[in-house]
Amino acid sequence: MTQRCFLLPLILMAALAAGCNDAEQTTSNVDPKADTGNTAAMAEPEPSVSAGPTPGTDYHSFANVDAYLTRNVDLNLNVDFERQVLEGTATLTIERQSGGNPALILDTRDLTILEVLAGTADKRGSVEYSLADPHPVLGSALTILLPAQANVVEIRYRTAPSASGLQWLAPRQTAGKRHPFLFTQAQAIHARSFVPLQDTPAVRITYNATVTVPPELRAVMSANNSPVAAPDGVYHFQMPQPIPSYLLALAVGDLEFQAMGERTGVFAEKEILAAAAAEFADTETMLEATESRYGPYQWDRYDLLILPPSFPFGGMENPRLSFITPTVIAGDKSLVSLIAHELAHSWSGNLVTNATWRDLWLNEGFTTYLTNRIMQFVYGDDRYAMEMALGLADLNAEMAEMDPADQILALDMRDRDPDDAFSSVPYEKGSLFLFEMENKVGREDFDQFLRSYFDTFQFQSLTTETFVQHLEKTLLKTHSDTLSRERIDQWIFQPGIPAGAPAPSSNAFTNIDPLLADWQAGAITAADIDTTDWTAHQWKYFLDNLPDTLSPSQLAQLDSAFKLTDSSNNEIAFSWLMIAINNNYQPAMERLEHFLMSIGRNKFLRPLYQALMDNDQQAMAQRIFEAAEPGYHPLTVKRNRQIIYGSSLIEE
Ligand code: BES
Ligand code: ZN
Repeated sequence: MTQRCFLLPLILMAALAAGCNDAEQTTSNVDPKADTGNTAAMAEPEPSVSAGPTPGTDYHSFANVDAYLTRNVDLNLNVDFERQVLEGTATLTIERQSGGNPALILDTRDLTILEVLAGTADKRGSVEYSLADPHPVLGSALTILLPAQANVVEIRYRTAPSASGLQWLAPRQTAGKRHPFLFTQAQAIHARSFVPLQDTPAVRITYNATVTVPPELRAVMSANNSPVAAPDGVYHFQMPQPIPSYLLALAVGDLEFQAMGERTGVFAEKEILAAAAAEFADTETMLEATESRYGPYQWDRYDLLILPPSFPFGGMENPRLSFITPTVIAGDKSLVSLIAHELAHSWSGNLVTNATWRDLWLNEGFTTYLTNRIMQFVYGDDRYAMEMALGLADLNAEMAEMDPADQILALDMRDRDPDDAFSSVPYEKGSLFLFEMENKVGREDFDQFLRSYFDTFQFQSLTTETFVQHLEKTLLKTHSDTLSRERIDQWIFQPGIPAGAPAPSSNAFTNIDPLLADWQAGAITAADIDTTDWTAHQWKYFLDNLPDTLSPSQLAQLDSAFKLTDSSNNEIAFSWLMIAINNNYQPAMERLEHFLMSIGRNKFLRPLYQALMDNDQQAMAQRIFEAAEPGYHPLTVKRNRQIIYGSSLIEE
């Protein structure tokens, strides 16, 4: 009998509130640690605010980082497409942080542990270990008994086909349709589903890997990738710069390489390689512009990997090799701010890293600010103004519907899945905060501040509190006339946008306002609007500012004048499909179904499915979701299942 078990969000919250310290219910006699008080490498002692989260404590890892720190991980993995498993060993070199000989606790999720050995680099023997019952969000603590003085731990394991950080694609989901594809997505806490490790951004590791794949495929990692394929399918990687675990990344597919510049290139299936290289041809210029302003690029090469369309994000900043959705290849470079964003993470995020997921805004807010600046360096003031104005519009629209507690930059994530920390608040509110500081201290001083911030904290993890302390010692001292601690605290610890915040706008949009008004008033028809020189940004502005309710004839008029249902720009198509759902515009439903079936990017899917639910189209949402589900990433399934069925976990 098939039993469906719905785990209610309330139960989930209760389980989480009980804390991630419960590593009991083990199957052996090993005692788990009593407390997971993980502290960020950089965090200075902070008084803990009563009832609030303790800064620097990672509530999303079981790892006892106060006792041990992993310095290096050696991976030896075989990629088995038939069974959809990674199988092999992870060898951790650890450094003791305290006396005694406590057990080592690692993070895992849905891993099968086959054997654990411990000892030294040249001599190790089998040791006792136990795997705790799984926590719904955090996975299972793996507790390992170590011989005294052991500093190397070798874990033989395999992943589950359902691993939350892996997506195994069938050939039909790829551009070439001939070979399967695999990619990892570790952020926020999914590395533990494919490697047993200390899965917290407070710990940095170097890594080496030997990855064996079918010889007709190529493996790439967030490490030193070779532009040539290995004929035997055995790939060797080194990542000498220390990275947090969420930046560990692997992809395997029928990939080819094309150089774009001296330090930049693209890996993609050959069917889309040339289009990707042309779309992202400005990557090298972006890299040079960022370096000249914010200090040297510290990661050697910067390549892009173009994934199949089921990739659940726009991009992921895996070091040396950003993972990129193909849905931004629009043909006119209109969506390349995504590349600027992932590149910017090479400074904000990868070099200076959030210590815990509460501090995510240090990664994403700084990166969004830098993205806008890079776009200005490379494409000029008009593009900059439009990107900024659209960012603010996104923020305002999302915040209008948001719980005030979620509008705080330093989020309390204690009883939550860290994947839920991602909203426009850490991105756009974080960026607006930095923009206000820039306005108050002047661009030159602010850039200098950023450059020295990246230099001071490079290869370290940082809490919000350490950032504020740093501000106190720098900008708040030198610019006490325009900056104050109260204002900083308001931005970081209070909901909403502080009164008096800057409100970026663009002339390219204000020129569209009268057209919107005239069209709504019936003074002009869609065909009267001269859109010949409109950019994708202006189209988006136009569509996003149409009235919520449109008549069937208005919809038909817009579609016939502008061919919106057939738009090949995915951002424009998305905005139009939202309008179509909200106004029950039938002629666009076929395109909607195709869009939902062929694209896995959550930024698009979640609002579309939500709009279907809000407009009494549950049956349609369910029908399309069920047809599309086998092709979706596990995260996409989880997120959208919540929207459609009100629950994320279903056990068959
Ligand atoms: N680090 C994020 C991707 C991410 C988001 C991972 C949520 C895990 C959970 C990446 O840098 C990012 O922000 N991607 C955005 C890009 C956009 C803001 C330009 C995306 O995917 O849409
Ligand atoms: Zn980002």
